Amino acid sequence: MKLNADPKSRLVVALDVPEAASALRMAERLSGEVGMLKVGLELFCAEGPAFVRELQAFAPVFMDLKFHDIPTTVRRALEAVLTLDPRLINVHAQGGPQMMEAAAQAVRAHRAAGGRTQLLAVTVLTSLGREEWARLGHAEEPGAAALQLARLASDSGCDGVVCSAHEASAVRDACGADFMRLCPGIRPKGSATHDQARVVDPASALQMGANWLVVGRPITHAEDPRAAARAIVEEMKSGA
Ligand code: C5P
Repeated sequence: MKLNADPKSRLVVALDVPEAASALRMAERLSGEVGMLKVGLELFCAEGPAFVRELQAFAPVFMDLKFHDIPTTVRRALEAVLTLDPRLINVHAQGGPQMMEAAAQAVRAHRAAGGRTQLLAVTVLTSLGREEWARLGHAEEPGAAALQLARLASDSGCDGVVCSAHEASAVRDACGADFMRLCPGIRPKGSATHDQARVVDPASALQMGANWLVVGRPITHAEDPRAAARAIVEEMKSGA
């Protein structure tokens, strides 16, 4: 499945809001200007599948639910979510190769039946610092572990990973150009970083090997979200 070269299709907006009404209002404002809308655990737990169906009237949806359980449970949960035919879903790579293989099997069956969903893996949560990672019993650095988990995700049949733009080219080199890199932590030039530590601007992120850029607050907190999304797409064009 090739990614549309149009920069707009590579822009994923994080709808980090607590309820459907504000998410749908934002989706309507952004309709036609962005490639995908990201629904996280907070919104999905509050509003459920019917809300996702409503949202899909405005743009394809990335269901950022980060499944992590025994293989059968993850496969069955994915089969339930796949009835919505989201554009992207994800699992934790730390669930292991068998869990990722079970997830990939469900996604492949869905695509064979005409679905469009692709499966991403989350490697190491960026909220886990070095110290906490070591306390979990890991000897290697989080960065090295993330790359190893990306390789495992690729070998297990996932379509890509969620990673920092700083890691995107290493992931591409390790797993191949067709293995997708979806990157959060993106900030337009000259905008507030909020709580993101190592931000990358849109054009640089594409040049560094990102396929999809996740942007939240610079768009959703803007006075004019539609104009903010357009401006980011313009920035992306200089890096595409
Ligand atoms: O508002 P902002 O652009 O920082 O939002 C980024 C989105 O990407 C949020 O939904 C956040 O949870 C998610 N994310 C992130 N950093 C990661 C992984 C996910 O910011 N390493």
